[in-house]
Amino acid sequence: MQTMPMACFSTALFMSFLTFALFLQPLLSLSHVTHPQPDITTSGTAATTYIIHTDNFSRPPHLATQIQWYSSILQSLSSTNTTTTTTTSVKTHSHNIIYTYDTILHGFAAILSSEEAEKVSEIPGVVGVYKDTIKQLHTTRSPDFLGLNHDFGLWPESNFGEDVIIGLVDSGIWPESESFDDDGLPEVPSRWKGECESGERFSPSLCNKKLIGARWFLNGTRSLGLLDGGGKNKYFQSPRDDDGHGTHTSSTAAGSPVPNASFFGFANGTARGMAPRARVAMYKACWPGDGGCPDTDILAAMDGAAKDGVDILSLSLGSYEAHPFDGDLLAIGAFNAVRRGILVVCSAGNSGPFSSSVTNVAPWITTVGAGSLDRTFPASITLGDGTVIIGKSLYDKIKPTNTSFRPLVYMLYCSASSIVPRLVRGKIVLCLEAEGYDVGLKIQAVGGAGLIWSDIVFGTGWITPMAFTLPALTVDNLEERKIMAYMNSTSKPKARFGLSQRTIVGENRAPMVAEFSSRGPNAIVPEILKPDILAPGINILAAWSPEAPLFLGIKRRGRFNIVSGTSMSCPHVAGVAALLRQAHREWSPAMIRSALMTTAAVVDNQYRQILNENLEPETPLAFGAGLVHPQLARDPGLVYDAGVQDYIDLLCAMNYTEKQLRKFGASKADCSTFVIGGAGNLNYPSFAVIFGNGTNVKVVKRTLTKVSELPEVYVARVVNPRPDKVEVTVEPDRLDFKMVNEERSYVVKFVSKVVDPGEMEYGYIIWENDVHQVKSPVVFMWE
Ligand SMILES: *[C@@H]1O[C@H](CO)[C@@H](O)[C@H](O)[C@H]1NC(C)=O
Ligand SMILES: *[C@@H]1O[C@H](CO)[C@@H](O)[C@H](O)[C@H]1NC(C)=O
Ligand SMILES: *[C@@H]1O[C@H](CO)[C@@H](O)[C@H](O)[C@H]1NC(C)=O
Ligand SMILES: *[C@@H]1O[C@H](CO)[C@@H](O)[C@H](O)[C@H]1NC(C)=O
Ligand SMILES: *[C@@H]1O[C@H](CO)[C@@H](O)[C@H](O)[C@H]1NC(C)=O
Ligand SMILES: *[C@@H]1O[C@H](CO)[C@@H](O)[C@H](O)[C@H]1NC(C)=O
Ligand SMILES: *[C@@H]1O[C@H](CO)[C@@H](O)[C@H](O)[C@H]1NC(C)=O
Ligand SMILES: *[C@@H]1O[C@H](CO)[C@@H](O)[C@H](O)[C@H]1NC(C)=O
Ligand SMILES: *[C@@H]1O[C@H](CO)[C@@H](O)[C@H](O)[C@H]1NC(C)=O
Repeated sequence: MQTMPMACFSTALFMSFLTFALFLQPLLSLSHVTHPQPDITTSGTAATTYIIHTDNFSRPPHLATQIQWYSSILQSLSSTNTTTTTTTSVKTHSHNIIYTYDTILHGFAAILSSEEAEKVSEIPGVVGVYKDTIKQLHTTRSPDFLGLNHDFGLWPESNFGEDVIIGLVDSGIWPESESFDDDGLPEVPSRWKGECESGERFSPSLCNKKLIGARWFLNGTRSLGLLDGGGKNKYFQSPRDDDGHGTHTSSTAAGSPVPNASFFGFANGTARGMAPRARVAMYKACWPGDGGCPDTDILAAMDGAAKDGVDILSLSLGSYEAHPFDGDLLAIGAFNAVRRGILVVCSAGNSGPFSSSVTNVAPWITTVGAGSLDRTFPASITLGDGTVIIGKSLYDKIKPTNTSFRPLVYMLYCSASSIVPRLVRGKIVLCLEAEGYDVGLKIQAVGGAGLIWSDIVFGTGWITPMAFTLPALTVDNLEERKIMAYMNSTSKPKARFGLSQRTIVGENRAPMVAEFSSRGPNAIVPEILKPDILAPGINILAAWSPEAPLFLGIKRRGRFNIVSGTSMSCPHVAGVAALLRQAHREWSPAMIRSALMTTAAVVDNQYRQILNENLEPETPLAFGAGLVHPQLARDPGLVYDAGVQDYIDLLCAMNYTEKQLRKFGASKADCSTFVIGGAGNLNYPSFAVIFGNGTNVKVVKRTLTKVSELPEVYVARVVNPRPDKVEVTVEPDRLDFKMVNEERSYVVKFVSKVVDPGEMEYGYIIWENDVHQVKSPVVFMWE
């Protein structure tokens, strides 16, 4: 199984790729070939780590414990059997149990050859055998931008999330960061069963009433032999964060307020998480070197988190591409976490803007795409003819008065290896296309005077300036053309930086969908729209490990870093979900997600269509239900609920076999006989309708549950910009609710009037009255 990097981009995204492979840049997976995945799939008999998934109730009665059962399974492999084939010798590895799992999945991990794995899969009671694969890790302004206010609404109503525990599976945590101060927090909730494990430079006393749990899971990484990394990567054998990513995501979700935080002066202000009083539990399962995050370690982390009692799991990691749920251990683990009432929030991936690039697409997972904030870092450069070019910069070292004109050159394509020292020395280089943060380092190393970065090809566009260590400006295509026109007009082009350190909020259109944010449709179940929702994920300021590079190649360290990625958007939603969890303790994970989705904003801060970085209008395939809107989510009026049975019915509708269903603790007998509408019938807060191949009519049912207090009547409104293409009817179109928890169902009929293979259109189905608006995106696609 191919796995994928799904990291954040640090301001130094490309370099980070080379450091820990935790911050990955989507397009690097297409363009960058210097980071081969360890080959764990080589020959048929090579031994590697497998996860053996068992049925908890199939333990042979003569074996007293699960461990005895698992040991006996391994022993049965070791006893030589002269009657079996003699072609291969695979006796070189020991059969140690690497992990046992018993909360979100039953089973264990061990090193096996492929023949042994095959053999184990036939043992009664074993429901699945999976080869370990590696997943990769994929703020001051964001609470304000999302409308959270200290004095009214969701923050005070939820007590800032103080009884909610958010578990993160990530690269560890820097416990001394001020973001994890516990000033003024009450005692740790008594139901908490987690612990603070000791290890290298980490002792249990580092935990407090904010950071209430910290554990580390290294057995899987170690057994794959991935930790070495050529000895160049330092790592802590403890929950301590060697990377920065986990410190960043956890402080984004639930960081305590830190006044006067900034990235060398940029994005200054009070940094705080979305749920500033929620509790944090870190489960370190992502390791440097070639490690990434193996399934074995992720599962052990999720298993531990579920047992410890987290309310919310935030996972800013994933594969390169979506995989069928029955082979996707993260999906299986998340399923059982949801079964236990835990809300699971994941990043959508950084593989945009390509179609069907979204990952973590199971409908029991809340999948988060990344958009921009309304915060920007404007800077300028003056051309020889006096034209002022406006761009963005995170370069903090020079003042406008301290620069002089320098010769200006351009390169069609810049990479570190394509920089010719004598051509750039003393000059400002305009890169029309560029690959890699190390371009800046190289230009700097050979004595270049500066960099103008105009690039949307490699995943970060002009709204994501990188923190180059030389004078640098990121410009859009319009400004790029102005510079080119000037350069064409003179034989001696020159320019002068006018950098001044500035942070501006509120002026630009936001959100815009990040170029890198992975897009739908859902490759596994196209009838379930993914991603679900958008949250800020561009240039997010949050806490960092002061001993981890801010980005590779520079010595500079910091307590805060500005980073981009769906890794950054995911914990925003986890934090908001924590607030809802506290404000509405009786809500299920699906109800919380529904509240987030049906109240999300589908227009930007100028009440216009949400755009992407090319300034083109985007669709729900990029932003899902829209930008998360916490203040509205606290009072959604109605919700679409769904539980384990609904998800099992979905798997049944996908024609899962008995064997596949067993992986979800179900069987054919659990399929509701009334599953008739197919996968589109899951009671989901959005609609994806696929026409074609002889199908031009789709009928789906939805059920709304009232969560507001007063009796209300809701009327359906269909927003359908192309009635010539699809006719949408909602029946009934009026729902009368009296009491809390009352349920009312409706049916939507979609009739396609065209044959439009490959096309898509979208609209909304809205249930509304004077008080509430319950809005679902609808995407139509023609095969
Ligand atoms: C699994 O089986 C063990 C032993 O029979 C039992 O103690 C445990 O409660 C079971 N777990 C679940 C989730 O059913
Ligand atoms: C050895 O192989 C035979 C035939 O395949 C089988 O019946 C027997 O149970 C095996 N014994 C062991 C110890 O695996
Ligand atoms: C890791 O493996 C060792 C044995 O090698 C075992 O003692 C330990 O419990 C395992 N760790 C976890 C978290 O299961
Ligand atoms: C804020 O931070 C800056 C730079 O880090 C420092 O110079 C200043 O004194 C700080 N202000 C306060 C009020 O702490
Ligand atoms: C950020 O710093 C600038 C300059 O020091 C200051 O004018 C501004 O008020 C600060 N912004 C915030 C939100 O603290
Ligand atoms: C001006 O820039 C030079 C490098 O170009 C730097 O060494 C110097 O410290 C700067 N001076 C001021 C006042 O910023
Ligand atoms: C600049 O000149 C090049 C080649 O002469 C041409 O391809 C390009 O379109 C010109 N650009 C502008 C903005 O005038
Ligand atoms: C499942 O099987 C039914 C009956 O064979 C068929 O109509 C339907 O298209 C199948 N669904 C999927 C998702 O394969
Ligand atoms: C179209 O339908 C036929 C028969 O119903 C099926 O065999 C074929 O796979 C379908 N094609 C697509 C693209 O779904």
